[in-house]
This record gives sequence, structure tokens and C-alpha cells, in this order.
Amino acid sequence: MQSADIDRDRVPGHVAVIMDGNGRWANQRGLPRNAGHEAGEAALFDTVEGALELGIDDLTVYAFSTENWKRPASEVKFLLGFNESLLVRRADELHDRGVRVRFIGRRGRPVPKRLVNLIESTEALTADDERMTLRIAFNYGGRNELADAAKAAAVDLAEGRIKRIDTRAIEARLYDPQMPPVDLLVRTSGEQRLSNFLPWQAAYAELVFTETLWPDFDRRELARCVALYQARERRFGKAVDKVITIRG
Ligand code: IPE
Ligand code: IPE
Ligand code: MG
Repeated sequence: MQSADIDRDRVPGHVAVIMDGNGRWANQRGLPRNAGHEAGEAALFDTVEGALELGIDDLTVYAFSTENWKRPASEVKFLLGFNESLLVRRADELHDRGVRVRFIGRRGRPVPKRLVNLIESTEALTADDERMTLRIAFNYGGRNELADAAKAAAVDLAEGRIKRIDTRAIEARLYDPQMPPVDLLVRTSGEQRLSNFLPWQAAYAELVFTETLWPDFDRRELARCVALYQARERRFGKAVDKVITIRG
């Protein structure tokens, strides 16, 4: 699948990706799981390039979930350090490519202060970049995001800043209120679940599940997922009549 096969007028505005399968990729090669995480970096940056080529406005990737703290301490430690080094090594490159970087997730403990500082400096560096917004979900959990938004709305209601708690009030209190709804949600590695990723924003997303393990994903795979998306019919609850022609 080449990006030439894509209808440029119907590219999904917001693509979200659950980057899964690093551990299995490593296991298949007799390598430690962390080697799979390292190999995922090239996949991520090729996917970013692919998204830029396709003219996707928003790309959101799941890097570390609130549930991932349950992994062995050595893997958690590796992932924290790896994400930190990735920001140190790649922030300027993303800025040069015109990519605005934003983080979604809880930034307090147990996320190390050094990583939070780097997250905030990367957001500041790229704040005015306009070609694409890359959101990195880190220490992200959708149920926490909704609980945090509901709590903030309840406080604002009690203190008279809003008159009611409705969908707009919740939306305005999500981790990044500027984040548009997800059009296409991709999960790699053959797993078919959401694992607490973007329950609000992906409520009407088209879902594409691919067998490819994350380190093998690239811009061509992204284009293939976009082509599958373009073959779907989005209805948003509306009735759509089909004209059936009976020959005979
Ligand atoms: C995804 O790959 C990366 C993270 C969750 C951080 P996994 O590490 O979940 O890989 P598998 O699912 O074990 O193959
Ligand atoms: C989801 O993958 C989280 C990330 C990709 C960061 P997991 O591998 O952690 O999800 P489960 O445990 O299979 O649901
Ligand atoms: Mg996994």
C-alpha cells in the first residue's frame, strides 16, 4: 500500500495508535522485552513521517498506561528512562518537522520529576508548531481522565463557575481540551481491545486491528490502515438507505 492510493480529501483528521507487541517482537528473536521497546522508536518516527506525508492533523500514541505500572520494576524503570532519552534525543527533530508535542496523562507521582520537566520543556519548545500535533499518552488511563474531569466539573459547579455538568463541561476538563475526536484508532499486534485508551475521544472512532507487531509498523502500514478507514461508511447514528437493484 502506497500513500498514492489514498484519497487525499478524506484523510482522517485524528489518528490514534495503541503501539502494542514490542514484547512479543523481542521474544520471537530471543531478545529481552526492552529490546522490543527500543525497536519501537524507529516505528514511531516512521509513522510520524507517514502521518505528515498524508496530511494527518492529529496523531495520538499510547506510550505508557496507568496499568503498565504493574509490570516488573526493571521494565517500568527501563520504559521511564527510555521515554526520557527519546525526548532528549528527538525533541529538536520534532520541532524542526513542525510537530507540536503534547502529553496526556497524570503528571504527578510516580512519574519522576525529571521526566515531567522534560515533558513540559518539549511542550514549550514545540508549542507554536502547526504542521501536526503529536499527543503522547503517558501514565494515561481513560477512566482516570473521566473521573478527573468529572471531579473538576463538580468543583466548578459548586463554586458557581458553571451552571450544569453536561458533555461540554466534561470535554472542557479532559487532559487536552483541544484534542479533537478520534477518527481512526489503530491497534497493532492482533489484540482487539482498547485497554483504557481514550474512551471519551474514541467513542465514534473507526477501529482497525492489525496483526503487525509495533516494531514492524511503518508509514506503509499506516497508509494501509487509512485505506481501510476510507472504505468504511461512517454513520454517526443516522439512517442510511441502500438502493438495491434487482436484475432479472
Ligand atoms: C507495547 O508493547 C508497549 C507498552 C505497553 C509500553 P508490549 O510491551 O505490551 O508488548 P507485548 O504485548 O507484551 O507483546
Ligand atoms: C496498552 O498495551 C498500553 C500501551 C500500548 C502503552 P498493553 O500491552 O499494556 O495492554 P494489555 O495489557 O494487553 O491490555
Ligand atoms: Mg502489550
